[in-house]
Amino acid sequence: MESPFKPDILRGKVALLTGGGSGIGFELSTQFGKHGASVAIMGRRRNVINDAVSVLQSLGIPAVGFEGDVRKPEDARRVVEATVDKFGKLDILVNAAAGNFLVAAEDLSPNGFKTVMDIDSVGTFTMCHEALKYLKRGGPGKDPSTGGFILNISATLHYTASWYQIHVSAAKSAVDSLTRSLALEWGTDYDIRVNGIAPGPIGDTTGLSKLRPKEINSGVAQSVPLYKVGEKWDIAMAAIYLASVAGKYINGTTLIVDGGLWLSQPRHVPKEAVQQLSRTVEKRSRAEPAGIPASKL
Ligand SMILES: NC(=O)c1ccc[n+]([C@@H]2O[C@H](COP(=O)([O-])OP(=O)(O)OC[C@H]3O[C@@H](n4cnc5c(N)ncnc54)[C@H](OP(=O)(O)O)[C@@H]3O)[C@@H](O)[C@H]2O)c1
Repeated sequence: MESPFKPDILRGKVALLTGGGSGIGFELSTQFGKHGASVAIMGRRRNVINDAVSVLQSLGIPAVGFEGDVRKPEDARRVVEATVDKFGKLDILVNAAAGNFLVAAEDLSPNGFKTVMDIDSVGTFTMCHEALKYLKRGGPGKDPSTGGFILNISATLHYTASWYQIHVSAAKSAVDSLTRSLALEWGTDYDIRVNGIAPGPIGDTTGLSKLRPKEINSGVAQSVPLYKVGEKWDIAMAAIYLASVAGKYINGTTLIVDGGLWLSQPRHVPKEAVQQLSRTVEKRSRAEPAGIPASKL
């Protein structure tokens, strides 16, 4: 689908995306590049990074890939510095790297829980921490009047509770908390806007195929108020909105892009029956005594 944004809306920006070589992260890399940004991507699998960079470059996007694990502070530092070495500055950091698998809480080892916390939550903080000196207003190579932008990719699982996702729910809760705290501290001190996106089920992604594998008859689209799963494009457009000048007064928000799924609940009365039911209830209520409580004295 064609972008509604001007193709130069991110012109001159340099973006580093963890998890930028696959799924939602790769779509963000592609769309940021198509809208004028230079793109660095980070992930653990060299082949995924190489393939992604080849595709980006074939689209004419200045792109580079770095192998690295967000759980290792030395990798985070190396990749942030290599990005600045390559493109001269850093304007945008996207934390999309995450781990996920379905598991009942009683079968999840504390170590498995910790692994997801380490990637999603601690990894996000580590990347932000290493990028701070480059993202802040007046950071190396940057326009001295402009601060940078951080986008944390979250989820909606933790807004209520989700089956077999205790580790991810906890980790994404922490990510949302980081988004708000950094928006407050770094918005105030360094002119860095920090926001998040909480995707719903997004088609053609590893995330969705792990949470709703074909072995279980998912019917996920039927539970979304808009009756469809999202596209990676939907997340990328929301990201461009937040990262560009269009979002210049948005700070500390996690934008839900889920077709309304997290609000969804079964309809308890058919729409056709609501009017009649309501009349009946009102009539009964009017017929009941007004209800000044009788004195117990
Ligand atoms: N798909 C959905 O429906 C959905 C819904 C809600 C939220 N999300 C969120 O959207 C983001 C992208 O998900 P996706 O479904 O597109 O999955 P994905 O393709 O598996 O993306 C995850 C990426 O993170 C990288 N990564 C994982 N662990 C890493 C680590 N320790 N260090 C560096 N990179 C690491 C992976 O590459 P390597 O394995 O090579 O490191 C991969 O490129 C995630 O934050 C996810 O929680 C997705």
